[in-house]
Amino acid sequence: MAGPGAKASDRGRFITVEGSEGAGKSTHVASLVAHLKEQGIDVLSTREPGGTPLAEDIRALLLARREEPLDGLAELLLMFAGRAQHLAQVIRPALAAGRWVVCDRFTDASFAYQGAGRAMGMEKVATLAKLVHGDLAPDLTLYLDLPREVGLARARSRGELDRFEVENDLFFDRVRRGYLELAAAEPERIRTVDASGDLDEVRVGVIAVVDAFLVRTSGQGGR
Ligand code: TMP
Repeated sequence: MAGPGAKASDRGRFITVEGSEGAGKSTHVASLVAHLKEQGIDVLSTREPGGTPLAEDIRALLLARREEPLDGLAELLLMFAGRAQHLAQVIRPALAAGRWVVCDRFTDASFAYQGAGRAMGMEKVATLAKLVHGDLAPDLTLYLDLPREVGLARARSRGELDRFEVENDLFFDRVRRGYLELAAAEPERIRTVDASGDLDEVRVGVIAVVDAFLVRTSGQGGR
């Protein structure tokens, strides 16, 4: 990110999008990125786990279903290993160059899925977050919220299921509760959008949140 003497306008903004399975995240990330570009903003769109060739290899390890169970701590560390690589190779250089970064999932997903879903507790996740990117947090996070049964029905109608999508209902209830608690704790940064409607309705909600952010951030000399 920008160095100590840099003006707010020198650095890009970091926007993340979160949601449970079936929330339509990829579609809404694409329309959000298109909307920012229409405003003349230089945007880089990326995702986690993944975002660099090496981190995409880690993603494949994380999503593959295999006989050997993946230990919860190993899963958490792999998420953060990919994140460290992604931050070093892609996110930090882009922000430092003044570009905006839109990332499909980031550390809030580790709190929701590993901390809450896997019941590993928030402390371990917070320790790794501090180690890996203590100085960097998203400027805005959109959380696409929908009831577990609606999301899972959508996700499971899409074909082959990954290692997360085969988890049971209780797991996804904990994930959703985790996200809602994160959003309640940081209402300024994390904006919840109801994702249970059709794509057009949800898109309107997403763009409204982004437009409000653009107004706030331009007041800080952000563009
Ligand atoms: P995706 O659904 O956005 O493609 O993400 C793949 C899966 O990875 C999804 O089930 C959520 C999971 N995930 C975590 O469990 N922890 C994390 O930190 C991240 C970024 C994703």
